[in-house]
Amino acid sequence: MASEPGHRAIEIESILQEERRFKPPAGFGERAWIGDFAAYQQLYARSVADPEAFWADLAQKELHWFAPWQQVLDWQEPFARWFVGGKINLSYNCLDRHLPERGDKTAILWEGEPGEVRALSYAQLHAEVCRFANALKSLGVGRGDVVAIYMPLVPEAAIAMLACARIGAPHTVIFGGFSGEAVRDRLNDARAKVVVTADGGFRKGAIVALKPRVDEAVAQATSVQHIVCLRRTGQEVAMQPGRDLWWNELVARHSSDCPAEALDSEDVLFILYTSGTTGKPKGVVHTTAGYNLYSHITSKWIFDLRDEDVYWCTADVGWITGHSYVVYGPLSNGATTFLYEGAPNQPDPGRFWQMIEKHRITIFYTAPTAIRTFIKWGDEWPKRHDLGSLRLLATVGEPINPEAWIWYHRVIGGERCPICDTWWQTETGGIMITPLPGATTTKPGSATLPFPGIVADVVDREGNSCEANEGGYLVIRKPWPSMLRTVYGDPERYRQNYWGQVPHVYFAGDGARRDADGYFWVMGRVDDVISVSGHRLGTMEIESALVSHPAVAEAAVVGRPDDIKGEAIVAFVTVEAGVEQTAPLLDELRAHVVKEIGALARPEEIRYAEALPKTRSGKIMRRLLRSLAAGVELTGDTSTLEDRSVLEKLRDG
Ligand code: WT7
Repeated sequence: MASEPGHRAIEIESILQEERRFKPPAGFGERAWIGDFAAYQQLYARSVADPEAFWADLAQKELHWFAPWQQVLDWQEPFARWFVGGKINLSYNCLDRHLPERGDKTAILWEGEPGEVRALSYAQLHAEVCRFANALKSLGVGRGDVVAIYMPLVPEAAIAMLACARIGAPHTVIFGGFSGEAVRDRLNDARAKVVVTADGGFRKGAIVALKPRVDEAVAQATSVQHIVCLRRTGQEVAMQPGRDLWWNELVARHSSDCPAEALDSEDVLFILYTSGTTGKPKGVVHTTAGYNLYSHITSKWIFDLRDEDVYWCTADVGWITGHSYVVYGPLSNGATTFLYEGAPNQPDPGRFWQMIEKHRITIFYTAPTAIRTFIKWGDEWPKRHDLGSLRLLATVGEPINPEAWIWYHRVIGGERCPICDTWWQTETGGIMITPLPGATTTKPGSATLPFPGIVADVVDREGNSCEANEGGYLVIRKPWPSMLRTVYGDPERYRQNYWGQVPHVYFAGDGARRDADGYFWVMGRVDDVISVSGHRLGTMEIESALVSHPAVAEAAVVGRPDDIKGEAIVAFVTVEAGVEQTAPLLDELRAHVVKEIGALARPEEIRYAEALPKTRSGKIMRRLLRSLAAGVELTGDTSTLEDRSVLEKLRDG
């Protein structure tokens, strides 16, 4: 890994001295899929002794295949093909195969923000997915044609995803909070043929308009031939005859008979955009069979899914967590997955707990940023509700600070639920490091141990394993079934970014240490991506947005530690000559970023600077800005700084 001065050094000391230990709750292991630690150890040992046999055995037992594969893994570093030659369909594995035994079981249980509830049985979901798959076909969508999905969190979002999977049309789900510009960039990069959207969605009691943003985006996205619009909020939207179709009118014309296509194991299942460090969002490509297997088996063993469970992962389908652990993983297991459209504090901060009580939720999976928010809102909200149905809790998105972990355990879990702190990424497709609830003793703040089949390690930049408790790069040494296959349209970027940093291993940017028990402690990203409320935002994207404003000359964006959001965005800007540094302009810039990228990227603070601290090679020294933003003493080397007076001015300003 190049040691450019702009790169945060991996100077990791353990700030965390966490001694508390939590054994799996008494009796939990007795009925869990993985019953005790010895079982995990055996499974793990077997999985790494012969990974291909391990995955092949699971693929055979856990999934339906139309035709067997010829080769388990074809590995041409860094390009993997899993279950080569096999024929499979993820939508079949999520729906059709459950019909004989679970046709009447609730597949999707949904609550809208205004309070309406819908339950779709497996039979109903199957019928709706088939209808929509036929509808897509009628619009000329076939195998390999990309469909963009830009929707609120309603059952139709999952229906659209499953319909795409059924006919081999890769989907790209775009988070409903993104702006028209962000939608446009993704539509163009993926060359989407159809966009599925809604008039709007409900959020914090208000309507978030979606269709107008799609119209704006599609005006500059020539690949798009049709827009399918679901009526959700009922407000007026413009419909362009010939191009735009109402969801309900369209599906009414189609039958619920649509056999799942026997797709190739390596057919692209979806493209999901994630922020990189270099500006342009990366289209992470996932394919069918390996992803199906991995999201299935991780859901089963980590969430310990059984037929009686009502499972709730609070993620939006616009993120990978929503793909793997709201839709595909749970449904592949025949589980009941709960979806909630809106905000956690609508109409009051008790909304989540009220729904857990009402729907008898048994498994709850959320993000540390949400947990910190609940803590701030106060214990009285969860205490008003009976949370006795819960039996397992989990988190994802960023390291969870031990005090938040303990609060989650005590106040939400009533001290009886195991907590799974799950580490993974958009690129990994599924959970990589995690406790298994019946087997693993947990330590608050640690994601604990690798999932079977995953060879994780902490290494230096040459790839040598670090000593216990020594900070280093978190890497994966062996390919796994749900690993990203490439960056859409840019295999070189894939190679360079993930397999070109540390020799012959997968590295996607996190620092970590392993303790003497082999437990992993993830310390966050080593590059300059900012994690706001668990969402990874590229500084470059935000900087580009700022600079696109006529008043701004240059911009540098950094994260500042934030108790609630994990990190808050702080921007430093220099203005064009002749522009006055006024307070109203700062508001205007903030609004501009929201328009360009979305509300998620709104800078918490923007500061005027006379100049930005740069290296001689012109790289902004973010490390220094980070210290300034956090208000801490500048430490470390400043010798590569081109002009030292810049720093003085920034500090004084
Ligand atoms: C990055 C991936 C995978 C879905 C959520 C975000 C951070 C994720 C943990 C965890 C510490 C975590 C990492 C990772 N992260 N889970 N349990 N402990 N850090 O997906 O947007 O692809 O972000 O989130 O930094 O690299 P993503």
